[in-house]
Amino acid sequence: MNKTFKCFAILSSVLLFLGGCYNDNEYDLYPFPSGPCDSTSVSYSTSIAPIITANCNVCHSTANPSGNVITDTWEGLNTQALNGNLWGGVNWENGYIPMPKDASKLSDCDLAKIKNWINQGAPNN
Ligand code: HEC
Repeated sequence: MNKTFKCFAILSSVLLFLGGCYNDNEYDLYPFPSGPCDSTSVSYSTSIAPIITANCNVCHSTANPSGNVITDTWEGLNTQALNGNLWGGVNWENGYIPMPKDASKLSDCDLAKIKNWINQGAPNN
């Protein structure tokens, strides 16, 4: 065995060993019960409205809209989506008031879904 080959052999076994220990199945990466984040197939009714109902509508209902911002209808939310305030607010960007007000930021998964929906033009689907 020459030196180069020996070196290569040792290195390969180390890499194989490390590879064997690295466990990347989806159940370990995304433990039950939340499951993997699917932010790709979003629609207003199935993905966006539930997030907004849970986090925003208590303060932004049509009946009593804080800051004149309505989020409990598609029309109201679409307005905020297209004028930039929805993303600026939920992503806590400079120059926007962080939303939801006095609560923690939405999860990365929820933010990814909202971003994707806005990028599609915030459709009523
Ligand atoms: C606890 C009440 C409360 C909750 C919950 C809340 N908001 Fe607000 N929101 C306000 C108030 C009050 C204002 C008016 C500005 C102010 O007084 O801070 C406002 C303003 C806004 C504005 C306009 C901000 C701007 O920069 O002009 C947007 C957009 C908005 N909210 C979106 C949301 C979204 C989306 C959620 C859910 C993720 C949410 N809000 C949750 C109370 C709330």
